[in-house]
Amino acid sequence: MRVGGSDYDKYELSFTIASQCAGSTSVHIRALMPRYSGSRFRGGDGPRMPQQVPRLVFVFAVALLAMVIARWYLVPDTFGDIGHYRAAAVDSIAARPMKYAGHQQCTLCHSPIQEARLASNHKGVRCEVCHGPAAAHIAAPMEVKPSIPRGRDQCILCHAFNPSRPTGFPQIDPVVHNPLTPCKDCHDPHAPEPPVVPESCAACHGEIARQKLVSHHASLECEVCHAAPVTHKSNPRSARPSKPTDRSFCGACHAIGDPRAAIPQIDLQTHGQPYTCWQCHYPHHPEAP
Ligand code: HEC
Ligand code: HEC
Ligand code: HEC
Ligand code: HEC
Ligand code: HEC
Ligand code: HEC
Ligand code: HEC
Ligand code: HEC
Repeated sequence: MRVGGSDYDKYELSFTIASQCAGSTSVHIRALMPRYSGSRFRGGDGPRMPQQVPRLVFVFAVALLAMVIARWYLVPDTFGDIGHYRAAAVDSIAARPMKYAGHQQCTLCHSPIQEARLASNHKGVRCEVCHGPAAAHIAAPMEVKPSIPRGRDQCILCHAFNPSRPTGFPQIDPVVHNPLTPCKDCHDPHAPEPPVVPESCAACHGEIARQKLVSHHASLECEVCHAAPVTHKSNPRSARPSKPTDRSFCGACHAIGDPRAAIPQIDLQTHGQPYTCWQCHYPHHPEAP
């Protein structure tokens, strides 16, 4: 290939970049491009150069230059000094006021709460997770008080059922789990335990239990007549016990022909028909009127 002569066009671009911080720089670009003259390069038998190539090359060169200039202006001063970030950012972040104190600090004045928490299921949930940043409170305990999340929202953030949580993590469905009561009324937020489930029906059905206790049915356990699911004791409305539905239920003990002599008997076919037995006899305190 021959270089020189008038087979080539000369493209030139020169300018000065002035920047406040880095002084000024002169840029001079000179490009030598084969002149296109119809179907071939003049004066040679070399390969054909398509007409658009020299123009494209020039456009790309200008774009590249524009990028270099943009970078010059846009990339901040200390970028890349110690890593792929602005070195000065470290100082500006370090200069911001501290808001969190860390849970060890709370021990100084609230040691009973801290001790209870560290021994509980919430040992992994630090004070400021619930009470918010408290550094200002430590500096002036009486003037600045941390917030106290007394509602249900905060607890639901972690305990609402979510299938992606680890197996065994205690979860509840906030819609059915005692919906109208704040969680703290039943669970100590600083040392939560699932409250002890009442063992006896009397814990919640005191009046019925007291009536039955002095009645002819005193010897009958509640479960003889009501099949109560275990969950009824912890979440009564989610699972209801069964109730007798027809006369034959009472007839199983009271119908004529039952061998147990202590049980008073009636003729199931005729006695009190067509009503159910408990329309005349209160089952928890039955009397023969
Ligand atoms: C220098 C002692 C001190 C430290 C340290 C301290 N507190 Fe307190 N805190 C107090 C005092 C005093 C009160 C006010 C008690 C009162 O009002 O009866 C208080 C009250 C509170 C209250 C109740 C606010 C209210 O409205 O009743 C919360 C919540 C609390 N502190 C959380 C924290 C947390 C979380 C930490 C740790 C980041 C912490 N405290 C560290 C002294 C301290
Ligand atoms: C799971 C959330 C949670 C965590 C973690 C937590 N708290 Fe509480 N804190 C509460 C709630 C809710 C109340 C309100 C209790 C109430 O009103 O019965 C409360 C009340 C308080 C009170 C007011 C006095 C009282 O006992 O009612 C203080 C003080 C306090 N917390 C300090 C702390 C400290 C210190 C820590 C860390 C050792 C901590 N809390 C951790 C949720 C939390
Ligand atoms: C930041 C997340 C978080 C928040 C907020 C939170 N908890 Fe917990 N809770 C936990 C963790 C973690 C455990 C321990 C789980 C374990 O041991 O597997 C736990 C355990 C419990 C347990 C024990 C359950 C069991 O079967 O052992 C109860 C009850 C409980 N939390 C109630 C509450 C209440 C009430 C609140 C609101 C005052 C609350 N939690 C706020 C994370 C949280
Ligand atoms: C009226 C009392 C009451 C209220 C209010 C209440 N709970 Fe419970 N909670 C219980 C009882 C009782 C149990 C134990 C039986 C059970 O698992 O249902 C329990 C169990 C739990 C458990 C353990 C579940 C498991 O599978 O181990 C968590 C977690 C819990 N509650 C969180 C909460 C949260 C969060 C709130 C507020 C949104 C709340 N509770 C409100 C009574 C209550
Ligand atoms: C934690 C408290 C609690 C305990 C423990 C409890 N119950 Fe209940 N039970 C309730 C509540 C609350 C209702 C009322 C539900 C409603 O009316 O929405 C109820 C309703 C019932 C009903 C009526 C259901 C209906 O459909 O009308 C029967 C029957 C019953 N309980 C039997 C029992 C028996 C038997 C036991 C003991 C094995 C028992 N309960 C233990 C709280 C309890
Ligand atoms: C002899 C059988 C029998 C025994 C024992 C019994 N019940 Fe019942 N119970 C019934 C019948 C029958 C009904 C009424 C059903 C109806 O009215 O639809 C009933 C109704 C109830 C109801 C619904 C509310 C009401 O008063 O109508 C509750 C709650 C209940 N029983 C709780 C108990 C408890 C708690 C015990 C134990 C202390 C108990 N029962 C023992 C037969 C029995
Ligand atoms: C498991 C057996 C059994 C079942 C089921 C049963 N009872 Fe009884 N009932 C007895 C016994 C036992 C007595 C008498 C105890 C005594 O007084 O010595 C009795 C007594 C009675 C009495 C007599 C009271 C009196 O004044 O003499 C009536 C009325 C009665 N039951 C009604 C009912 C009704 C209504 C039902 C159905 C809801 C029912 N019973 C279900 C065992 C049963
Ligand atoms: C229409 C109201 C009515 C109905 C319904 C009824 N009873 Fe009676 N029951 C009575 C009366 C009134 C007496 C007392 C007079 C008598 O002995 O006939 C009585 C007495 C009894 C006695 C006591 C018998 C004795 O010898 O001491 C038993 C047991 C009894 N009923 C069980 C039942 C059973 C079980 C049912 C359901 C199958 C039932 N009753 C339905 C009204 C009724």
